Amino acid sequence: MMIEIEQLLDAAAVRRMRERLAAAPWADGKVTAGYQSALAKNNEQLPEGCTEARELGAEIAAALSQNLLFQSFALPRAVFPPLFNRYGAGHGFGSHVDNAWRPMPGGGRLRTDISATLFLSDPGEYDGGELVVEDGHDGKRVKLPAGHLFLYPATTLHSVTPVTAGARVASFFWIESLVASAARRATLFDLDLAIQSLRPRVGDDDAALITLTGCYHNMLREWSHG
Ligand code: NI
Repeated sequence: MMIEIEQLLDAAAVRRMRERLAAAPWADGKVTAGYQSALAKNNEQLPEGCTEARELGAEIAAALSQNLLFQSFALPRAVFPPLFNRYGAGHGFGSHVDNAWRPMPGGGRLRTDISATLFLSDPGEYDGGELVVEDGHDGKRVKLPAGHLFLYPATTLHSVTPVTAGARVASFFWIESLVASAARRATLFDLDLAIQSLRPRVGDDDAALITLTGCYHNMLREWSHG
């Protein structure tokens, strides 16, 4: 299951971020790639742990913690500190799967259940640069307005088509979910949305609604780890 979260950041937040990123110390993106994906990766990236990455990443993490749709969809156990990349003309990222585990900056490691791209450039600022997530059909092509977030299963093959003009700036990161199985996460998300939609129609004290809410939490308890 994939989802778009509109306006994780508003226009003012995006503008401030872009100003700071314009003056940040960009480096070759191969530094965070695994062996296989380094061969396919051609872009620029902010070094993990540089001041801009840390401060802007913390701002994104704060927005995620306040976003109910993100919380319901991802059921996050941990979020990798957001990283930043920039694709100029000629840059792209061929088809690859993200590494299953990533070392966390403060120690420990994170299992990558969900991959996230937060678009920080508007589609009109660059040509090409679509995120393509292979879904068994033609592939889902994604190019969202600045401030919008796209979440997709980290198990999928994905790529970024070459940028032919302009520049595409984005943040990217991974989420370890309380629920490792994508199918179980999708079921919990559907159930949560159905409960939220029923609530105003039947009222908080409706017995069936209370039972469904109990089922949601009991399934989450059964299926969650950590
Ligand atoms: Ni990737």
